[in-house]
Amino acid sequence: METKTNPKFLLSLLFLSLCLKSRICFGADTITANQSLSGDQTIVSAGGKFELGFFKAGNTSNYYIGMWYYKTVVPEQTIVWVANRVQPVSDRFSSELRISDGNLVLFNESKTPIWSTNVSSSSVSSIHVVLSDNGNLVLRAGSDSSLPLWQSFDYPAHTWLPGARIGFNTVTNQTQVLTSWKNSDDPAPGLFSLELDPNGSDAYFILWNRSIRYWTSGAWDPKSRIFSLVPEMRLNYIYNFSYVKNKNESYFTYSVYDPSITSRFIMDVSGQIKQRSWLKSQGWNLFWSQPRKQCEVYAYCGAFGSCNENSLPFCNCLNGFEPKLKMNWDLQDYSGGCNRRTTLNCGNGTNGTTDNGKKLKKDRFRELTSMSLPVGGQSVEVGSTSQCESFCFNDCNCTAYAYVDNKCSIWSGDLLDLQQLTADDGNGKTLYLRLAASEFKDPKSKKGLIIGVAVGSAVGIAVLLGLIVVAVLRDRNRVIGKSVEGSLVAFEYRDLQEVTKNFSEKLGGGGFGSVFKGTMRDSSVIAVKKLESVSQGEKQFRTEVSTIGTIQHVNLVRLRGFCSEGSKRLLVYDYMPNGSLDAHLFNCPNDVLEWNTRYQIALGTARGLAYLHEKCRDCIIHCDIKPENILLDTELCPKVADFGLAKLVGREFSRVLTTMRGTRGYLAPEWISGVAVTAKADVYSYGMMLFEIVSGRRNSEPSEDGKVRFFPSWAAGVITSNEEGDVLSLLDPKLGRNGDVEEIMRVLRVACWCVQDDEAHRPSMGQVVQILEGVLNVNLPSVPRSLQLFGDSQDIVFFTESSSSQSSHAPSNNTSTASSQTKSAASSTISKRSEDHQTST
Ligand SMILES: *[C@@H]1O[C@H](CO)[C@@H](O)[C@H](O)[C@H]1NC(C)=O
Ligand SMILES: *[C@@H]1O[C@H](CO)[C@@H](O)[C@H](O)[C@H]1NC(C)=O
Ligand SMILES: *[C@@H]1O[C@H](CO)[C@@H](O)[C@H](O)[C@H]1NC(C)=O
Ligand SMILES: *[C@@H]1O[C@H](CO)[C@@H](O)[C@H](O)[C@H]1NC(C)=O
Ligand SMILES: *[C@@H]1O[C@H](CO)[C@@H](O)[C@H](O)[C@H]1NC(C)=O
Ligand SMILES: *[C@@H]1O[C@H](CO)[C@@H](O)[C@H](O)[C@H]1NC(C)=O
Ligand SMILES: *[C@@H]1O[C@H](CO)[C@@H](O)[C@H](O)[C@H]1NC(C)=O
Ligand SMILES: *[C@@H]1O[C@H](CO)[C@@H](O)[C@H](O)[C@H]1NC(C)=O
Ligand SMILES: *[C@@H]1O[C@H](CO)[C@@H](O)[C@H](O)[C@H]1NC(C)=O
Ligand SMILES: *[C@@H]1O[C@H](CO)[C@@H](O)[C@H](O)[C@H]1NC(C)=O
Ligand SMILES: *[C@@H]1O[C@H](CO)[C@@H](O)[C@H](O)[C@H]1NC(C)=O
Ligand SMILES: *[C@@H]1O[C@H](CO)[C@@H](O)[C@H](O)[C@H]1NC(C)=O
Repeated sequence: METKTNPKFLLSLLFLSLCLKSRICFGADTITANQSLSGDQTIVSAGGKFELGFFKAGNTSNYYIGMWYYKTVVPEQTIVWVANRVQPVSDRFSSELRISDGNLVLFNESKTPIWSTNVSSSSVSSIHVVLSDNGNLVLRAGSDSSLPLWQSFDYPAHTWLPGARIGFNTVTNQTQVLTSWKNSDDPAPGLFSLELDPNGSDAYFILWNRSIRYWTSGAWDPKSRIFSLVPEMRLNYIYNFSYVKNKNESYFTYSVYDPSITSRFIMDVSGQIKQRSWLKSQGWNLFWSQPRKQCEVYAYCGAFGSCNENSLPFCNCLNGFEPKLKMNWDLQDYSGGCNRRTTLNCGNGTNGTTDNGKKLKKDRFRELTSMSLPVGGQSVEVGSTSQCESFCFNDCNCTAYAYVDNKCSIWSGDLLDLQQLTADDGNGKTLYLRLAASEFKDPKSKKGLIIGVAVGSAVGIAVLLGLIVVAVLRDRNRVIGKSVEGSLVAFEYRDLQEVTKNFSEKLGGGGFGSVFKGTMRDSSVIAVKKLESVSQGEKQFRTEVSTIGTIQHVNLVRLRGFCSEGSKRLLVYDYMPNGSLDAHLFNCPNDVLEWNTRYQIALGTARGLAYLHEKCRDCIIHCDIKPENILLDTELCPKVADFGLAKLVGREFSRVLTTMRGTRGYLAPEWISGVAVTAKADVYSYGMMLFEIVSGRRNSEPSEDGKVRFFPSWAAGVITSNEEGDVLSLLDPKLGRNGDVEEIMRVLRVACWCVQDDEAHRPSMGQVVQILEGVLNVNLPSVPRSLQLFGDSQDIVFFTESSSSQSSHAPSNNTSTASSQTKSAASSTISKRSEDHQTST
């Protein structure tokens, strides 16, 4: 088998003649005592997975010893480990990596050792290093079975490969910490690091400058095998995570079930931990990142920088400041922050003079609205905003103040961790920033302007009046928006501002932005969606919008138009008076949807999705199917909303958004599995929603009496045991068993079919429509593994009503473990639910 599948074996035969005694053989995976590596020589792991040698970092002349995926695995060089992170060499041909005194040592051009494995070993003979197929570089004395003297897995750089550990050993005092690169061209340790809490709380932290913690995974919960604040780990079919804790060591590690998946975690220069998987068709694909929002990274934009979640780049200098190191900003390293353009004059008042004899003016304060306040403010006991201002003014060190809720806070020195929020964000505060007087507009020129206007208006006042009259008349008759691309209308921002009464009536928020109600002059009602975090330029946006605009179906919300001005991107839709399905299913005890209506909603939604997937010119994957995105018109006819948005917002953004924003329960496993997502991902989400249409509660919520923990598992158990009589007990209790047994059964079978783990086993939306129309029959699908995972079959039986009364006969040991596990899982679901609610549309 080895010889058959190992092309490297042949290669090494071919190149055997090129081997020199003192140099590395081409294709070898080992450096032995008398060999050295330099120039463009590399070693490659035995199975052809990883390669080690000199690499050049970005657009610099610095070379480092690093490890990357072999080119047949990932064609674009992707560095996963760096030896000499801090000290590069500039001439790789006169530098060499070799065994010296029992260590692997890198010698620079002048043969000075600049990096070493630095272990003290008794035996210096037969020392060698081997690059293994899992990306571990191992230093050993003697045979391959001997314990490693040193291994690169114990000294990770910014990448965490499967099989490596992140944790600490209390016996050797060794810790494994992931540290970001300084910037995209410099592998030296940056400001952000991921480590296991050395105090033993079983939680991971991301730290800024090794000291400030700004993200935590929450503690490891051994029962549900997730970190408490990373509930999406529950939806995991790719990684086998394990947490090991004993007297000597604590660490977390993972492996990949399917070895053909190439996946890695990195501590990114963005200060986020990111999981990326290699897809042949799309390159490195981002599947997961935390903290979710860039601006949640502590001090991401450095001193006097301000982070804005809705702009690209995320960092900007405050007004009156400029990047300290422009070059680093271009490399996405904002940590250097910003410098003041004009030095402060402090309390010198009007008496001081500059070097050239010019009079200095008092510093002034600039008002910055909708800010999140910087860290490290001191509170001051004063009674008014003007006292607060003069307190700050009189303290030469004070750089800013805020007066919020009758409390004065001042900041001295650098302002860190500032965030620019949107105007409608309730958390926005006003900050007053101290600036030199010259940063403010020269009042002289203002005076000149006023005079000019006065003279001008005196002369041309009649003309002006005439113009105003014309303008008013025109404005009254002006049609809002103008038609482009057939049916779509391009709106002006100020018009949308007007019809929505300055975005005052919010219909919903989340996903890709907030939605506001608006009334047009013809008194038709519209819904205006303000998009957040759009990474697309104007032209691309218009192209995508016009594609979406051509898609029309009775079960899809109609896009009427859009607005694209500067960085603003808005979409205008028909307004749906009956709101979204989630409100009817979960929140309206007095207005219960009858079974028949629910069935029609399920069918209509399926038709809308089938149209998107199969009938449009370019198949559109919705990516975010959930009850919040099913709107109901006056007749309670369902209309799918937000289709096409995933593409509109930009791929990486949307993937993170949809993965992270409260849609956990509807996410198909392949979203985080490292394969390309197809329309079958929508089928999965639709199936999860069908369960909710039947039960009238969220799948993630246990039933009121706590007996049914995860409805889909329970329902799957009931329908596969095929007891027709029980089917009505699955129905929303608010309907009082009023429903068509055959239809309920059909819907639940479809749901089970839709949520199969393997997408190839799920139906297409077209098939779903046919089944619900009664044209096609569905065989009983098997219970998907994902449903079994929420509890083994025993667990399901234990929690059905009929068997719970008999639980006393159940084998006591097993049952009690099952039930205690269940409780803890249920309570952790509940604790996450409120967040769910906030973030969903
Ligand atoms: C390495 O070189 C030394 C002396 O130069 C020699 O004694 C030893 O056998 C060599 N080892 C190998 C593995 O070639
Ligand atoms: C690489 O760096 C040089 C000088 O440092 C600069 O002139 C050049 O534009 C850079 N190239 C790229 C692609 O950034
Ligand atoms: C090699 O490293 C040493 C120690 O860091 C340094 O002093 C020396 O200048 C380096 N040589 C070259 C050619 O860079
Ligand atoms: C090697 O380790 C010793 C102590 O074990 C330390 O003093 C020395 O600085 C280390 N050298 C390098 C190059 O890391
Ligand atoms: C580990 O650290 C502890 C406390 O800092 C110290 O007492 C112990 O000697 C260290 N052990 C080793 C092997 O360095
Ligand atoms: C560990 O705990 C001690 C005492 O509880 C505390 O002083 C210290 O700051 C903690 N260290 C970290 C890194 O949290
Ligand atoms: C990080 O902390 C060190 C002290 O531990 C300090 O000297 C350095 O200035 C800090 N870096 C930044 C960017 O604040
Ligand atoms: C998961 O990892 C653990 C520990 O590494 C191992 O014992 C177990 O067999 C693995 N499970 C699977 C299904 O590979
Ligand atoms: C801890 O380390 C000691 C000595 O290093 C060893 O004897 C013991 O078996 C280890 N315990 C565990 C749980 O690994
Ligand atoms: C500025 O000048 C006035 C009058 O000339 C004087 O009273 C005041 O103390 C001076 N202020 C400072 C800060 O020197
Ligand atoms: C005040 O002005 C004087 C003279 O211009 C200057 O030397 C001094 O540094 C200033 N003081 C402060 C705190 O800026
Ligand atoms: C201003 O900062 C300097 C240096 O940090 C400090 O010595 C001085 O006491 C501060 N002054 C006030 C008024 O806080």
